[in-house]
Amino acid sequence: MGWLKKKPRMTFSTVLICVRIESVQIDILTLFPQMLQSLLSGGIFRRAIDRKLVGINIHNIRDYTHDKHHTADDYPYGGGAGMVLKPEPIFEAVEAIKADISHKQEVNMMQIILLTPQGRLLSQQIALELSQHNHLILICGHYEGVDERVREHLVTGEISIGDYVLSGGELAAMVVADAVIRLVPGVLGSEASAPDDSHATGLLEYPQYTRPPVYRGWAVPEVLRSGNHARVAKWHREQAIIRTLERRPELLDKANLSSEERQLADRLQQS
Ligand code: 6GU
Repeated sequence: MGWLKKKPRMTFSTVLICVRIESVQIDILTLFPQMLQSLLSGGIFRRAIDRKLVGINIHNIRDYTHDKHHTADDYPYGGGAGMVLKPEPIFEAVEAIKADISHKQEVNMMQIILLTPQGRLLSQQIALELSQHNHLILICGHYEGVDERVREHLVTGEISIGDYVLSGGELAAMVVADAVIRLVPGVLGSEASAPDDSHATGLLEYPQYTRPPVYRGWAVPEVLRSGNHARVAKWHREQAIIRTLERRPELLDKANLSSEERQLADRLQQS
């Protein structure tokens, strides 16, 4: 029976890695490249880049201007406050990136995303969709806006990271990049950790504990120290449901619950 032990070596994550060997390319267009550069030198970005699973290039929109002052923005037609990003440098930057890669891969695998508070609200589902493309171009909007022709004739989508106003799309682009990169197989240290994440299951994540077992008199729940995997799994699932019910009840409607779990949710909701 020795062979039986060896059989499960092809785990779920191994299969994913085998199926998807391609890396993901992310190009970010910004007026503030140094703001993004520092984030690439640590954490998940560094790891993904070092493992050659992800390539990230940051482009300064000003490098694609042609005038002496490198003008990237101008006054809005019709008046109004603030400046508007000009279309030419943005179109030209995207075209330069496309020219550089078109011989290597299909362009329809590319998504060109404008980061703007008017975009689709980022969700785990959208991150998952984006992670299926092998090339993303993220355009950071700035100042009061971007020339509408960029929206109409260049981008394939617009994303917002929440209902609040940021000064520019830079932080939002890095939020999108982080959410996408961690879905690329091989990027996370433990392949098991992505499917359990808050939102990946449609539920918030259950409470986590590590050692010591008792800290200042506060003990880790007994079930987690029981070594009984079935009990632990059941507890995790119940806690995720309870937490979601307490904090984000609207998520429960869409979550994939068994009929038993649905009953538990209903009972908890009534109590
Ligand atoms: Cl993508 N950009 C800006 N400027 N503000 C935002 C945003 C994006 N998402 C939420 N607020």
